[in-house]
Amino acid sequence: MKKRVAIFISGGGSNMVRLIEDMQNTDHAAEPVLVVANNSSAGGLKKAKSLGIATVVVDHRPFNGDRSAFEAVLQSELAKYWPDILCLAGFMRILTAGFVAPWDGRMLNIHPSILPKYKGLNTHSRALGAGDTEHGCTVHMVTPALDDGPILGQAKVPILEGDTCEMLAARVLEQEHRLYPTVLRRFAAGNMSPIML
Ligand code: GRF
Repeated sequence: MKKRVAIFISGGGSNMVRLIEDMQNTDHAAEPVLVVANNSSAGGLKKAKSLGIATVVVDHRPFNGDRSAFEAVLQSELAKYWPDILCLAGFMRILTAGFVAPWDGRMLNIHPSILPKYKGLNTHSRALGAGDTEHGCTVHMVTPALDDGPILGQAKVPILEGDTCEMLAARVLEQEHRLYPTVLRRFAAGNMSPIML
């Protein structure tokens, strides 16, 4: 039986699309069952629908910072689709330990840096500002600490002379699109050994 995958997004959802397409088009141990966005303007919602995947919006704003109340609704929406794996793909809300605990070992995230470097936001400008010669992305298991769980895969890109944040972000995103489907495919099949692309 295939593992059921839910994906959380906040924006354009390009990583989400790659995950869904990989699960749909090829022999895969997992299938996409739900896409959740925390705002109705997330461009990825339309893309998920056109790929035939159920979507739901749980807007965080009416909860006025009450994270547990917001997360309770997220959990109840998820429960309707009984997913086995939860993938965060550009989901821009911090999830509390209370939400993460029941997903221990079953929740993945993609982060645009070579962790443990540059946890949190603005990773591309921080890598440029530090004068790094390489940058990249990481897929890791989600634990209560931000961008901190066991690493399942990484991909690196060079930082080139004259790079802007946008140029670097685009180069990293290309690798995210290769890395996340590769890691999810392995993870769904029970392989948790880290891979370097
Ligand atoms: C990606 O760079 C991801 O690593 C970061 O947010 C971006 C999401 O892009 N967390 P998309 O929504 O998948 O296009």
